[in-house]
Amino acid sequence: MGCRNLVVSDVDGTLLGDDDALARLRDWHQAHAHQVTLVYSSGRFYRSVLESIETTLLPAPTAIIGGVGTDVHLFGQTAPLADWHRTFERWNAERARAALGKYSELVPQPEEFQSPHKLSYYAYDLTDDFLENLKETLREAVCDANVVYSSQRDLDILPAGANKGTAAAFLAAQLGFAAEEVIVCGDSGNDLAMFQQLHFRGVVVGNAHPELKSLNSDRVYQAQACFAAGVLEGLWHWQERSAEFPTWNSA
Ligand code: GLC
Ligand code: MG
Repeated sequence: MGCRNLVVSDVDGTLLGDDDALARLRDWHQAHAHQVTLVYSSGRFYRSVLESIETTLLPAPTAIIGGVGTDVHLFGQTAPLADWHRTFERWNAERARAALGKYSELVPQPEEFQSPHKLSYYAYDLTDDFLENLKETLREAVCDANVVYSSQRDLDILPAGANKGTAAAFLAAQLGFAAEEVIVCGDSGNDLAMFQQLHFRGVVVGNAHPELKSLNSDRVYQAQACFAAGVLEGLWHWQERSAEFPTWNSA
């Protein structure tokens, strides 16, 4: 039988946004289910993504990466994979929260968006200098943290080593996929780490934010179409290049 791909896609602004396009993607997925393993990776938590699956045309995935890479769930399993959490045991959320208390620019997001492994704030139009200063503050407080800024609004402070990219690599290994077989899709800053994983290929949807539009690499396809139609355009692009990237070929 043919080879397969692991498609790891962001949800909001990538798959969700155009219902007609999502219906086409769902049909495509049904026809290619034997070749493609689908995973969602969201800034939202597992339960919230489940709600979207129940209330939209999103196809059922094999797994869900939630909380910007901090939780990895096999679909249908409420408990996240413990092995992933074990990789960031040194994380100290309280110390990070305290260190960030001095920045009046940061407004904590509602409690439902926080977890022991994810501190999230709203902070509009932060500059690179501000973000550097904030990272330095975390370093001084001896917080091994990962700072992710998306859409000029959402600021996530995560354990070092936890992001959508490392979580996708972890899950790919768990599911038995090589990095060359992984295709990632996204629209904003919290997706960036997926495009930076060695040997992953990517699809940036047409409606993406500047932080992804500026990616320029032969492993990243910039789609013209928006939302799920952009994902489809990108997957077709990689499918056509199956001679260069043999993972789409059937034997
Ligand atoms: C989602 C999450 C939010 C996070 C944002 C960017 O919207 O709910 O907490 O800040 O993604 O990662
Ligand atoms: Mg998004």
